[in-house]
Amino acid sequence: MCGTTGIGHTRWATTGEVNKVNAHPHQAGTIAIVHNGVVSNHKELKEHFNSNLFVSDTDSEVIARIIKRDGVSSILSSIQSIKGELGAILVTDDCLPNTIWAYSDGSPLIAGIGEDGDYYIASDVRALSGYVTKAYRLNSKELVIFAAGERVNLNKYKIAEVPDKPVSKNNFDHYMLKEICEQPLQIDDEPEEFNLPAIGDNIKIIGCGSSYYAGLLGKRFLEDISQIPTSVEYASEVSLNTPMPHNTTHIAISQSGETKDTISAIKKLFPKVVSLHNSNGSTITSLCEYNNYINAGPEVGVAATKTFFKTCLRLYHLAEYYKTSKHYTPQLELENIAQQVIDNANHIHTVAQQIYHYNNFLVLGSGYHYPIALEIALKLKETAYVHAEAMPAAEMKHGPIALIDKNTPSIFFCMSNDPNINQILQNIEEVKSRKGEVLVFTDCQNIDADWIIELPKHMNFRLQPLISVIGGQLLSYYIALTRGCEIDKPRNLAKSVTV
Ligand code: AGP
Repeated sequence: MCGTTGIGHTRWATTGEVNKVNAHPHQAGTIAIVHNGVVSNHKELKEHFNSNLFVSDTDSEVIARIIKRDGVSSILSSIQSIKGELGAILVTDDCLPNTIWAYSDGSPLIAGIGEDGDYYIASDVRALSGYVTKAYRLNSKELVIFAAGERVNLNKYKIAEVPDKPVSKNNFDHYMLKEICEQPLQIDDEPEEFNLPAIGDNIKIIGCGSSYYAGLLGKRFLEDISQIPTSVEYASEVSLNTPMPHNTTHIAISQSGETKDTISAIKKLFPKVVSLHNSNGSTITSLCEYNNYINAGPEVGVAATKTFFKTCLRLYHLAEYYKTSKHYTPQLELENIAQQVIDNANHIHTVAQQIYHYNNFLVLGSGYHYPIALEIALKLKETAYVHAEAMPAAEMKHGPIALIDKNTPSIFFCMSNDPNINQILQNIEEVKSRKGEVLVFTDCQNIDADWIIELPKHMNFRLQPLISVIGGQLLSYYIALTRGCEIDKPRNLAKSVTV
């Protein structure tokens, strides 16, 4: 293929089946576009065109049609007439082969110039690594035209830090395994001081997926350690109608800093939101007044592992800070204990090979381990494509126990330092006596279970979930591996959910 300009998209279309016809770029005559976002009125817009013109089932194709109809000279007004979460769009026109039009609204577009003088534009700064040394974040709602022979003044935009080189897998088979194994190293660095407003009477945490589950663990830390009433809500469920006490501190958690649902929620809660993020310069950091970088390093695997771990650790530090005003209390012993779980990976792999064929799991934990049960059920779903349902251990007897049979193993977190240990032991017995199979993560002796994965105990039971989660992550990883799944890039998923 030869040419001087090119556009492409590494994701499948959000609207329309996963197939070649729906894959970007979409074309209308000489116009080609790639789009990261949602056209909410695409059905209505398509009515203005002959339906036979449309080749794909995507919402995005209509953008190409509109630009083709109106001409590239009015591209800005054409794009602005489209409703929805527009995200980011790149456009080319065969009639002007040396030009790319770039427009974003709500999703990032980063641009830089390579040594060869060529422009590179991407939705994630990491994609530019190895191509440019300096990159800039284009402004939202501004059309930027990259044309051969005409320099774009990128200096007027905010700088985006470009990683020196693409993140390597080192000798690991998958990024997920590498990132799980990096978790003990997350512990002994001395983190930045927190950037926070004066504490309110209560805290509300928002996030999605793993970030939401980290928030649930954070609630435990904040309420138990610093006695601050804390609520946690899925970012996508935040409503303007929820009565909000005046003096609330809002914390938004997002490793990518680009999750659309979290961005929309922050806009509703605007201004004074505190972020906990792993992505300096992201959209969320530009919206929040108080930003706190977790510094977990780049996470490439779609499944959050080390960012979940580090977020939880920082939430623990935050709770300690509210209690003692110390920004950081070292937890050096945590590193050794976390490493012991990783050293047990071979045994966890063996257990995974014995249970990988099950298609349904219940994952149970109590108190501090309930958010861990939720997180591990999510890891099983997204990496191993198995149905896993998490619940507080004692809730099982209120209905889900009806699911217990030989095809639905229950995975328990049962640590001797758990304040609810007796109740969990009883829940295990309840499953066993109904002929259910049981896998237990534990340091207890003499548990009647089909599979036991020993976990080291932490003296501080509040830090135990950070140890236990590593065991659950490894189990999910090895089940996914044995099932032959696309571990680092699971089907239908992306690292930042920008739609
Ligand atoms: C976690 O393994 C998932 N990939 C996903 O649930 C993720 O946690 C969620 O989309 C939130 O992402 P964020 O932390 O980047 O906002």
